Amino acid sequence: MLLLGALNRNFSVSICHLPFAIYHLPFPLMRRAIYPGSFDPVTNGHLDIIERGCKLFDEIIISILINPEKRPFFTIEERREILKEVLKGINRSTCALRVDDFEGLLVHYAVAQEADAIVRGIRAISDYEYELQMALMNRRLEPSIETVFMMPAEKYSYVSSRLVKEVFQLGGELKGLVPPLVEERMKQKMTSE
Ligand code: PNS
Repeated sequence: MLLLGALNRNFSVSICHLPFAIYHLPFPLMRRAIYPGSFDPVTNGHLDIIERGCKLFDEIIISILINPEKRPFFTIEERREILKEVLKGINRSTCALRVDDFEGLLVHYAVAQEADAIVRGIRAISDYEYELQMALMNRRLEPSIETVFMMPAEKYSYVSSRLVKEVFQLGGELKGLVPPLVEERMKQKMTSE
């Protein structure tokens, strides 16, 4: 009797310690996020956000907006290629990373990709107003998709693709702001034009 009691107690203890996913769900939960943007070019701030996102999601799709109204520095194909290359060097743990592009409404694309969330980086309060508007509009359009705001490291809080292009075009130093490959490709592009 005493032995059975002990076994039962041990059994119930071991059940209680099973991970949540094993005894509540018939399949492992897989979280997919979309990280949308222009990525023209991708900066170290973007990569910092992707690394942080990898702590929360099993898969992140880095999705480049096709915007025919803008005259970009890099074409969509160039941005895809650069992103794929620089993502090889980041700390992703077990998170799967995919590069894609999209046009039209972001939430339509997110639903088509069966995503749970949209990740956006917020650098300063000035970003917050615009990002909040977008997040609330996206929620209205598609309530099943959550927006997750993430803060980059302080050292990237002033880094934007727009400023990177401006500094580059005026001959400034980009070291530490973008991956070396991005600076190299920007220089190549300038000399080939
Ligand atoms: O890096 P960016 O340029 O700030 O990214 C902006 C982006 C791509 C997230 C935003 O322009 C967007 O989602 N465009 C898709 C069109 C859309 O869904 N518009 C309604 C947003 S409320």
